[in-house]
Amino acid sequence: MPDLKIIKDFPDNFTFGVATSSYQIEGNSFGNSGLSHWDHFSNIKGNVYNNETGKIACAHFLNYKEDIKLIAEAGFSAYRFSFSWPRILPDGKGSINKEGISFYDKLIDELLENNLETFSTLYHWDLPEIFISKGGWKNRDTTKWFADFTDIIMRKFSDRLNSIATINEPWCVSWLSHYLGEHAPGERSIESGVKTMHMILVAHAEAMQVIRSHNYNNAGIVLNKQFVQPFDDIPETLKFTNLADEIHNLWFDEAIFNGVYPSQTLDLFSQYMPNNYEKDLVKISQPLDWVGINYYTRSLIKIDSTETFLGYKSVNGDLDVTDMGWEVFPKGLKFIIERFHNKYSKKIPIYVTENGMASNDVIQDGKIKDFKRIKFYSDHLIECLKLLEKDIPLKGYFAWSLLDNFEWAYGYSKRFGIVYVDFNNLKRIPKLSWKEFRKHLK
Ligand code: FCB
Repeated sequence: MPDLKIIKDFPDNFTFGVATSSYQIEGNSFGNSGLSHWDHFSNIKGNVYNNETGKIACAHFLNYKEDIKLIAEAGFSAYRFSFSWPRILPDGKGSINKEGISFYDKLIDELLENNLETFSTLYHWDLPEIFISKGGWKNRDTTKWFADFTDIIMRKFSDRLNSIATINEPWCVSWLSHYLGEHAPGERSIESGVKTMHMILVAHAEAMQVIRSHNYNNAGIVLNKQFVQPFDDIPETLKFTNLADEIHNLWFDEAIFNGVYPSQTLDLFSQYMPNNYEKDLVKISQPLDWVGINYYTRSLIKIDSTETFLGYKSVNGDLDVTDMGWEVFPKGLKFIIERFHNKYSKKIPIYVTENGMASNDVIQDGKIKDFKRIKFYSDHLIECLKLLEKDIPLKGYFAWSLLDNFEWAYGYSKRFGIVYVDFNNLKRIPKLSWKEFRKHLK
């Protein structure tokens, strides 16, 4: 039977937490929230599995106390959550929704009362809908509005936030959503993809400047990392594997930590790059206090001439896959973090801000026996321990996710939670993985 005994081998000051995000759990129809571009996107037939939306989600807005109890009871010491921009500013800017402020006030106080550290994220993908017509993240103004939103968060909450991340997964915000079209706003355009690959980093920079103006010093960014390997040994494949590595990983690392963009991608993107992007790179590379890494899977890179712009596609190999169809490859987590550490900064603290798997969980005799998930966590934690043995400053690990939730384009069909949610009545039922965490964390 898989277990999580390995938790005992971690140092006492290592942070174990769980993660969620606002649109995926809160329920955007509660509390006078404004609409997000995910409401817009999911209202268009065919974009989301079963045409589901985040209107109700897990109704965490109503049930946050019960949810926080589940985090504390399992013995976690930290909770990673995000602020919904349209919940606080229904029009994206201007007048503040008092109910939104009061919700996060209560949420944060409840976390602190339960001795949970507050790891917050400013943007986990719920862009106010109103900005769609203004070009969303393609428009430089959006980065300024984001800075204004950041300032509100800083004024209202920063004295109670242990940690602040600017952006969750800039690659998803830009390339996945504007070139591949899989997430809101669902664009499929080279120009939009390239523009937003840059603008989302400008948004990060603008927010960092606001954060610093409040003398706050535990801020970072959360990057999703993809471990890429060549599908075959054709020399051209290696070239494309490097390109994929740049687009997924190095684009962001190089910009943030070295103030440059990697050359192969920059050559490909050059005609679409916003004017004066070089100037922005100075701000983009301002120092951070920590970096968060989200890791789920690997990709094999295969030449594909039907992909006329990139020239390749990502395919699976022969490893076991999760319910998302994502290959399970724990070693990639170690590789990605070790490379990052050696290449960019030997000192910067690193957190695994997301790691987890979807499985087709069912209730049997009142129990959810998610053994595969327990094994997944254990196998990835083994890799984390190896990093600690090498004195790499890995400070914490956040399981994705506390609850089964709105998994973006997959709606409620993919279950990532350590707590099961029955979407008919919103009842929470801890899975075996939750119990296993509790057994070893307590
Ligand atoms: C990450 C997202 C998170 C969740 C997991 C499965 O890319 O940050 O919201 O959807 O994937």
